[in-house]
Amino acid sequence: MRVDVVQARPRAAADLEGLLGPEERDRLDRLRREADRAAYATAHALLRLVGAAWTGQAPEDLVLGATCLTCGGPHGKPHLEGGDPAVHVSLSRSAGKVVVVAVTRLGPVGVDAEVESAVDFEGFDAVALAPGEQGAVADLPDDRRSSGRAVLWARKEAVLKATGHGLVAAPSDVEVSAPFAPPELVAWRVDASGGGPVHLADLALGAGLAGAVAVVGGAAPDIRLVDGSWLLDGA
Ligand SMILES: CC(C)(COP(=O)(O)OP(=O)(O)OC[C@H]1O[C@@H](n2cnc3c(N)ncnc32)[C@H](O)[C@@H]1OP(=O)(O)O)[C@@H](O)C(=O)NCCC(=O)NCCS
Repeated sequence: MRVDVVQARPRAAADLEGLLGPEERDRLDRLRREADRAAYATAHALLRLVGAAWTGQAPEDLVLGATCLTCGGPHGKPHLEGGDPAVHVSLSRSAGKVVVVAVTRLGPVGVDAEVESAVDFEGFDAVALAPGEQGAVADLPDDRRSSGRAVLWARKEAVLKATGHGLVAAPSDVEVSAPFAPPELVAWRVDASGGGPVHLADLALGAGLAGAVAVVGGAAPDIRLVDGSWLLDGA
């Protein structure tokens, strides 16, 4: 029932790229901004380090694949190849702020980290939130509106990452509970593939950040959020 959720501050890409696979190194090469490179390398290295603990393989031997639900191409929701039973993974990266990864055998998992200021702009609610969510944000006191909005967005993205839809689905078709109420999926209007019960939890990632993890599957997850700095120190 365990879901490991591990967060870290981004580190220099040069210190971690040796852990990555060939496709990851190609993508890293295409990133120009140092902050993007650091977040990418740290997220993928951390995913490999945590995945290695679950599979017993060396981090650099893990094969991380992805298959797009929309076009079938080699991108989209990541998966670890060869696990039996399958080890489900997800990651989120915010340049200069935080990376977070989630690993579990419980079922498809999605994790998301959001910087509050990134979703605090005119017009966001009308496009991204369902009518009930817009009302819940509007009802918040002024000084809690940004953080509440980020909590909602992190929950919605976590669900869409767990199902593999990502933002190909309209985010307003996924409705979650009000920002400071217990996290839960309230309505799924994306398609017929709800995929069973969705368990949702908020993540306390630090000041100015919101986070959430979602797992699709039957049993209630035991979610553990830990700092992964020590894993990266030893890499
Ligand atoms: C997934 C998505 C919601 C994340 O957006 P974000 O908040 O900017 O980024 P995050 O850092 O939180 O997450 C990025 C990670 O999500 C994962 N991801 C990408 N697409 C995903 C999907 N459909 N489902 C689950 N996870 C996905 C990847 O691991 C990615 O990290 P990587 O690029 O380092 O491999 C958004 O990028 C998206 O919807 N992408 C898919 C778009 C798509 O499918 N287009 C059709 C192409 S044919």
